[in-house]
Amino acid sequence: MSPAVRIVEVGPRDGLQNEKAQVATADKIALIDRLSASGLQSIEATSFVSPKWVPQLADAAEVYAGISRRDGVHYPVLVPNEKGYERAREVGVEEIAVFTAASEAFNRKNINASIDESLARFAPVLERARRDGVRVRGYVSTVLGCPYQGEVPLDDVVRVARRLHGMGCYEISLGDTIGVGTPGKARAMLRAVAAEVPMPALAVHFHDTYGQALSNILACLEEGVAVVDASVSGAGGCPYAKGASGNVATEDVVYMLHGLGIGTGVDLDALADTGRWLAGRLGRVTGSKVGQALAGGAD
Ligand code: HMG
Ligand code: MG
Repeated sequence: MSPAVRIVEVGPRDGLQNEKAQVATADKIALIDRLSASGLQSIEATSFVSPKWVPQLADAAEVYAGISRRDGVHYPVLVPNEKGYERAREVGVEEIAVFTAASEAFNRKNINASIDESLARFAPVLERARRDGVRVRGYVSTVLGCPYQGEVPLDDVVRVARRLHGMGCYEISLGDTIGVGTPGKARAMLRAVAAEVPMPALAVHFHDTYGQALSNILACLEEGVAVVDASVSGAGGCPYAKGASGNVATEDVVYMLHGLGIGTGVDLDALADTGRWLAGRLGRVTGSKVGQALAGGAD
């Protein structure tokens, strides 16, 4: 296993995009600043998708402009097309993430496009990003199952990951969007993709619907992955993936990694405080077991 893991904190985007409670813009900014203060070095800040599709993140420009940037911290944002790219660049975004899926049915519901159409949409975005010196991350969703088509063939996951990498994404995040994976399947999926895309360019992104996320992450760490996506307080899901529960909680991932002797650079107590603070803003208890335990029970 790698001696250090980079966490990509996706709570402000993947978390908040699917929360029913409307979070104030000032609280979103405070969340991102608290996350960077806890030592996280990659924080997905928001999303420049259509506000009609994801109204929770309609304040993307205000949020991004309001962050207190810390040296060495990356603040990627989600971008679905050239319009999103332009909106992001207007407020000075320096890293973006494009997203597609290994399942045709999911892509149609999520971004109203086939896989090939989505890749064709990203081509000019990636070209402009390359010219502008903007780093691009790529997501492949539904890598272990799709809410609409069920099974997703491994070949489709590998093909889409290879295409995104070939188009210039520096890192490909493999998303178990509905959280149906188990460790054996997660390991086999990662191994298949890593045969085509180098392991240092891969990240894993698990949801905890069936309580398998940490086990899946451990299996993937054993395969050599060194980048893990997670969401503080376990916030979120996906608005276009019915039944997707929260992402794996960052606090839980950090606790496991530190217990394994793997460095993250994250102050777990500060992170857990932030997770409980966010849960309070969302009107519930934190979705992180570690966050609850460190507080001496749910608060
Ligand atoms: P569409 O309706 O097919 O787009 O949506 P369109 O190009 O026909 O445009 C329709 C209208 O939207 C037009 O406005 C455009 O200007 C506007 P109108 O003329 O009607 O007034 N529009 C935009 N406005 C602002 N920003 C933009 C933008 N683009 C178009 N960027 C589209 C296509 C891709 C835009 C839409 O489907 C969309 O925004 N989808 C986003 C859905 C989403 O964010 N889903 C969640 C993220 S994916 C995820 O969570 C999975 C992941 O976390 C990994 C995992 O968990 O596994 C990544
Ligand atoms: Mg997710």
